Amino acid sequence: MTVDDVHIITLPKFNDPRGNLSFIEQSNHIPFDIKRTYWIFDVPGGECRGGHAYSNTEEFIVALSGGFDVTVDDGVKKKTFTLNRSYYGLYIPKGLWREIDNFSTNSLALEFASTHYDSKDYVRNYDEFLNLKKNGKI
Ligand code: TYD
Repeated sequence: MTVDDVHIITLPKFNDPRGNLSFIEQSNHIPFDIKRTYWIFDVPGGECRGGHAYSNTEEFIVALSGGFDVTVDDGVKKKTFTLNRSYYGLYIPKGLWREIDNFSTNSLALEFASTHYDSKDYVRNYDEFLNLKKNGKI
C-alpha cells in the first residue's frame, strides 16, 4: 500500500435546522468490516498521537469534533490530510506509517478499525518500518 491508497470518504449528511445528522453503516460506507471503535480526546495542545504502522489493521478516522492533521507515510512519500468536519473520514489501509497532530481544543478523533486490538500488529520503530516496507513485508 502507498499513500495514494489513502483517501477521504464523504459520509451521508442530513441537513436539518434542528441540527445535522451523519451516520456510518457496517459494510456500506467504509471498505472493511468494523471490529473495533475507539476515540482520542482531551489531547493537550501540541501533542502527537500515533507514530506507528499497523501490519494488518485498516482504519477510518473521523473528526467528530474539532480538527486535527493525519500524516501518512509509505516510506517514499508522505501526505497530510486535515480533518475538521464530522461527515468526512479518512480511510487508511494497512502497512502505512501514521501520525496525528495539530489537535484543536476539545477535538474528538473517532477511529474505526478492521481488527481487535493486538499489540503485535504495531510497528513502532520507524527504521524497522522502512526495512519491512523495502522488503515488501508490510
Ligand atoms: P496506541 O494505539 O499506542 O495510541 P496512539 O497510537 O494513538 O499513540 O494506544 C495507547 C494504549 O491504549 C496502548 O498501550 C494500548 C491501549 N489500546 C487498547 O487497549 N485498545 C485499543 O483499541 C487501542 C487503540 C489502544
